[in-house]
Amino acid sequence: MDKLVIKGGKRLAGDVTVSGSKNASLPIFISTILAPGIHEIHNVPFLRDINTTIKVMETLGAKIEGNGNVVKLDTTHIDNHEATYDLVKTMRASVLVLGPLLARLGKARVSLPGGCAIGARPINLHLKGLEAMGAEIHLTHGYVEARARRLRGARINFDISTVGGTEHLMMAAATAKGETVLENAAREPEIVEVAEVLAEMGAKIEGAGTDTIRITGVSELRPVVHTVMPDRIEAGTFMIASAITGGDVKIRNMRLEHLDALIFKLQDAGVEISNKDNVVRVKGPRKIKSINIKTRPYPGFPTDMQAQMMALMTVADGTSVISENIFENRFMHVSELLRFGADIIIEGNSATVKGVKKLSGAPVMATDLRASASLILAGLAADNTTEVSRIYHLDRGYESIEKKLAGLGADITRVKE
Ligand code: EPZ
Repeated sequence: MDKLVIKGGKRLAGDVTVSGSKNASLPIFISTILAPGIHEIHNVPFLRDINTTIKVMETLGAKIEGNGNVVKLDTTHIDNHEATYDLVKTMRASVLVLGPLLARLGKARVSLPGGCAIGARPINLHLKGLEAMGAEIHLTHGYVEARARRLRGARINFDISTVGGTEHLMMAAATAKGETVLENAAREPEIVEVAEVLAEMGAKIEGAGTDTIRITGVSELRPVVHTVMPDRIEAGTFMIASAITGGDVKIRNMRLEHLDALIFKLQDAGVEISNKDNVVRVKGPRKIKSINIKTRPYPGFPTDMQAQMMALMTVADGTSVISENIFENRFMHVSELLRFGADIIIEGNSATVKGVKKLSGAPVMATDLRASASLILAGLAADNTTEVSRIYHLDRGYESIEKKLAGLGADITRVKE
């Protein structure tokens, strides 16, 4: 297993380019089930989760070819309706194949994903929506077994804003009979992106990016050539890397408008952010100011940036309160940040972070994807050496992060444990 060794204290400077979005690529790949033929997706990041999605698609019958960041998916023959536990437990987004398989084959058997390091993460709202669209669903032996001759349009009101649930039902509704209305839909940029891809395939979708999405089912969809949007969480992570090292970093291929909530908070913390010709320059102040954060569905502060922001607050001037409102167990990074000498107390879903003068490098262990990123950020700011082990989590969601950080002047290397 690999680990990262970081010698902290280097001020980051230079240019870095953001890769394609992981959380958009996964549903985009899965949406190709709906449109038989050869699809070509560009700007796909090299990640473990992408490989898992490719495996899922291959077991369903798709033929996949990759060349650099371009992936060709041939979904002419989708002849298997089952996604097994082995695949779904590796990456829970695999459950999104359920609706598209139902739409294409009239049946699907998909493993329930089970719990996750950051929370229980049930898929009850996905299933309730598919049932409202006429699917017959049974849970047996840990699998969801679903059948529907043809899904039909329905009005669905989500109890909770769910990103995956919204993407899933949007895909299922694209070829359903009649109109589907998704109310209290999630508004994340990845949902807009999936809606755009479906529209390029010929789907009729209005309102993606608002809380009400209307989909008028069409009888068939056609293959697409599409370029994936930049990864907003990777971009945000680089912004904090610059902020925490007092750096001066220029970030290319990012969409500033996707990160408003983070940008406002970083500016409150004293970070200078400017945009010229689509290159975003982030300058860290000599001393970070403390700020409070509450995670919310988009356009609120993203839960996927909470751990990284907490790393930044560990070295801020003053005390900040960080509340996690999306997942019930997304503070796994706290006990590791304490190993750097951070001062953090958790009470319920809030963490009170008292800034310390300096973090001190330590051996730490990554527990999930964004937690891993927060430990790297802490290591960049800390004295001496930090070793982050179990970085396979990181490889799920950040393309060559150590190479990109090294390109900015960080002293960071990947070594075999
Ligand atoms: C997506 O997960 C992202 N994953 C997550 O990214 C992200 O943290 C999350 O959205 C929130 O923004 C992908 O896009 C692949 P949800 P998702 O359904 O869709 C509850 C990362 O680090 N809920 O919006 O699974 C759920 O338990 C990750 O890249 C139900 O109760 O998240 C959670 O509390 C991790 N029932 C809340 O809703 C349901 O049926 C939001 O979850 C569905 C969700």
